[in-house]
Amino acid sequence: MSFTIAIDGPAASGKGTLARRLAAHFGFHHLDTGLSYRAVAQALMQVGLPLDNEELAAAAAENIDLGKLDRDILSDHAIGEAASKVAVMTKVRQILVDKQRDFATREPGAVLDGRDIGTVVCPDAPVKLYVTASAEERAKRRHLEMAGKGGSASYEEILADIVKRDARDMGRADSPLKPAADAHLIDTSAMDIETAFKTALKIAEAARAG
Ligand code: C5P
Repeated sequence: MSFTIAIDGPAASGKGTLARRLAAHFGFHHLDTGLSYRAVAQALMQVGLPLDNEELAAAAAENIDLGKLDRDILSDHAIGEAASKVAVMTKVRQILVDKQRDFATREPGAVLDGRDIGTVVCPDAPVKLYVTASAEERAKRRHLEMAGKGGSASYEEILADIVKRDARDMGRADSPLKPAADAHLIDTSAMDIETAFKTALKIAEAARAG
């Protein structure tokens, strides 16, 4: 039977890096579920459609192929903001969650990261991690990352966006971002990625053995 590792947490918490490293370590498939919400937003924006029409957004969601998500295009900051707007829509979530659950059954295992993996998408996952860090630390990391790519947004602008996105993701009625009752909390505020990875690996290996 396939083994699932569910990772949730806010933007720029380090959950994506942890998910990729765990997947590589175990030889599992990896799905960044945020990219699926980003792809819906991008499909609408690309043809000038509004982000607040649930029927249009649901139609775009139906067309998303999880095997064809282009991180380079979708990692754009504005697409992330737009994604959190379409992500409040129940129809969009139902369509994408079905596709994500299907992905989670891939053999020999899968690592999924997002906002509602441990709570909604894979509530029976044997490993659930909730990765977080202070908003200031996350803004600092995102600022460094974007500056490295030639971005011009200031630390203050990025922090304001992060705070706004946290509020939208944690405050929505459908599948709000929160740790599952049985999730292991990893606060990476004062941790380097190596320490965070070792912490996560220990938890995952214990579950694999048990
Ligand atoms: O993680 P990422 O920044 O790519 O996610 C973009 C947006 O997609 C999030 O702010 C959130 O609103 C939404 N999302 C979600 N559920 C997931 C993954 C992402 O609602 N499982």
